[in-house]
Amino acid sequence: MAVSYAVQDGVALVTFENPPVNGLNHATRSGIVEAVRRAQDDAQVVAIVLTGGGSVFSGGADITEFNTPAAIAEPNLHTVIAAVESSTKPVVAAVNKLAMGGGLELALGAHYRVATPDAQVALPEVKIGLLPGAGGTQRLPRAIGLGIALKMIVGGEPVAASKLAGGQLFDEIVEGDFIAGAVAFARQAAARGALPRVREREIAAGDAHAVFAQAREQIAQAAKHFPAPGKCIESVEHGQQHGFDAGLVRERECFAELLESPESRALRHAFFGERAASKIPDVPSNTPARPIREVGVIGAGTMGGGITMNFINAGLPVVLVETKQDALDRGLATIRKNYERNVKSGKLTAEQLESRMALIRSSLSFDDLKSADLIIEAVFEELSVKKQVFEKIDAIAKAGAILASNTSTLDVDKIAAFTKRPEDVVGMHFFSPANVMKLLEVVRGEKTAKDVLATVMVLAKKIRKTAVVSGVCDGFIGNRMVEQYVRQALEMLEEGGLPEQIDKAIEQFGFAMGPFRMSDLAGNDIGWAIRKRRSIENPSLVYSKIADRLCEDGRFGQKTGGGWYDYQAGDRTAHPSKRVDDMIVAYSAETGKARRTLADAEIVERLVFALVNEGAKILEEGIASKASDIDMVYLTGYGFPLFRGGPMLYADMVGLGHVKQAMERYAAATGDTFWSKPATLLTELAAQGRRFNG
Ligand code: NAI
Repeated sequence: MAVSYAVQDGVALVTFENPPVNGLNHATRSGIVEAVRRAQDDAQVVAIVLTGGGSVFSGGADITEFNTPAAIAEPNLHTVIAAVESSTKPVVAAVNKLAMGGGLELALGAHYRVATPDAQVALPEVKIGLLPGAGGTQRLPRAIGLGIALKMIVGGEPVAASKLAGGQLFDEIVEGDFIAGAVAFARQAAARGALPRVREREIAAGDAHAVFAQAREQIAQAAKHFPAPGKCIESVEHGQQHGFDAGLVRERECFAELLESPESRALRHAFFGERAASKIPDVPSNTPARPIREVGVIGAGTMGGGITMNFINAGLPVVLVETKQDALDRGLATIRKNYERNVKSGKLTAEQLESRMALIRSSLSFDDLKSADLIIEAVFEELSVKKQVFEKIDAIAKAGAILASNTSTLDVDKIAAFTKRPEDVVGMHFFSPANVMKLLEVVRGEKTAKDVLATVMVLAKKIRKTAVVSGVCDGFIGNRMVEQYVRQALEMLEEGGLPEQIDKAIEQFGFAMGPFRMSDLAGNDIGWAIRKRRSIENPSLVYSKIADRLCEDGRFGQKTGGGWYDYQAGDRTAHPSKRVDDMIVAYSAETGKARRTLADAEIVERLVFALVNEGAKILEEGIASKASDIDMVYLTGYGFPLFRGGPMLYADMVGLGHVKQAMERYAAATGDTFWSKPATLLTELAAQGRRFNG
């Protein structure tokens, strides 16, 4: 039973229940309509209380119903709200804890609203590129006034019910027994006899023109790529100018437009992709996680420090181990400095800083890792060093402890084989800066136990990371793909492009930073070292030497005052460099390549489709278990524009046939075998007119 009906003291108590957040699925909607109708005919009933069972009122639409016919089947939410609003007996929405989206719209249809003191309300649809489509853009301004309603609709952030009390949105905040209070309130409402409806109220607008103008100004930046905030304003404004019914019509039109927009598709994809990423196909969701009460981190360098911060931020104590006191001191000082910056900006108090630092136990002895439930190493990226470290921790760590490596390029199976417990070994690939970046690639070794994976996924949530599982391969998901992207960028330099043009083209597409600016920021010497190592491992390796030339010239990037661009001291602005541009032109001549003008569209396609094709191979090989996982890696770790939904969704939207044809064109134009050997999966799906994402 999704909806229960009981009569208490002459009041019909209608309780809907659809765990975990009482999503308004078809059964719940039907049940509410049915119960409200029943109450009309129930002679002993004078009023109705509508409330959510369990711990919340309602989180809104049921996301498991999204994109299914049930989502819009009658009674839809409009019909439910109409049934509530037209009830001949007063309906009181009793909002316990949370009313979001459709949940709040439903409450707005009631004649009265009461809330628990801790209740929060929000209309968060804008965050998935939509607007509240069940009257929210019309009723909320009438309930709480134009300015604050616009802020809630356009921003999507939750607001405390207590701030909207005193007749604005809530008629009463009920202290003590909530249901008893709501029932008592409903009896008083029945005695009053009135049936106030939000839709009949005037909008308290003040200088409406100025309010709308200010709202438009505030979204101007985001509106470049996201239409939803503008549509929210348009819908509210129409209702303010032409009345409730006309506003409702415009709201529906705007909703339908947004639903079809690529930006909303991208945002919804990211929303569901995040949830899907935490599900691993062959690891049941009820797999018990190992308890993690203390974490060990080895290495207090760039990554070790950031990794430590993640755990202490979440209240988990960390044992931080280094080889030398000065390295340890430097690491701790960097962590402290990071927090001090937060204190300065007001994000953290000085007490919080100290209590976080107090969670770190620093040590020069591996013996102190004995009590850790999870040990993450972030030492130098050399297999011999990793071997030493893993042999040591294998001897020390307690039974059942998870042993993780933050390696970005080494083989996790080889690392696992350094221990006698490869089933406890997993890759936890954080991204720099590790205390900031959302992405965590969880690298599943051949022998990694399922409960180890389940534990790491739970822990990732606790430290607010988006965890994506990757199989073992060179570069895992993200770096393996980015290698092809960078390779294309370098190829295009040889063919006729210059850093500035290539960066600008892809930044115009929406990337925060093009490949050359990015490389200057990270340091060109990192890739140089990797290329040198690989050339030794594989002497027949062929790659463009153009980036090596740059490094041979000492141009490591921002840190040396020059890389692909020139930089002035203390300034991160990239200025095109004549020296580098001349070097590029000379390199083309040396390699016998006739330079040509590259169109921006070609630059974008070659960079993005390089990602797509490698992504297809990654899927085909089972390194990623679903296309949305790859998209999550790119959205959260590589600055891929959110409004495009990630490389695989972008390819789906332009059509895989189009991608395939473009690859054939580039194969013919460049002779590059990367283009002439498309991934089998891409070829097959394109031939069948199918997509990566279902
Ligand atoms: P780093 O050079 O900044 O720090 C390494 C630290 O490990 C140094 O403080 C060193 O004293 C310490 N160390 C070395 N051997 C040790 C041992 N036997 N016992 C204890 N401590 C030891 O290096 P970084 O950049 O932090 O990288 C660490 C790991 O993280 C590497 O595997 C790297 O590939 C990986 N990684 C690095 C990223 C980056 O952007 N820097 C991104 C993702 C992963």
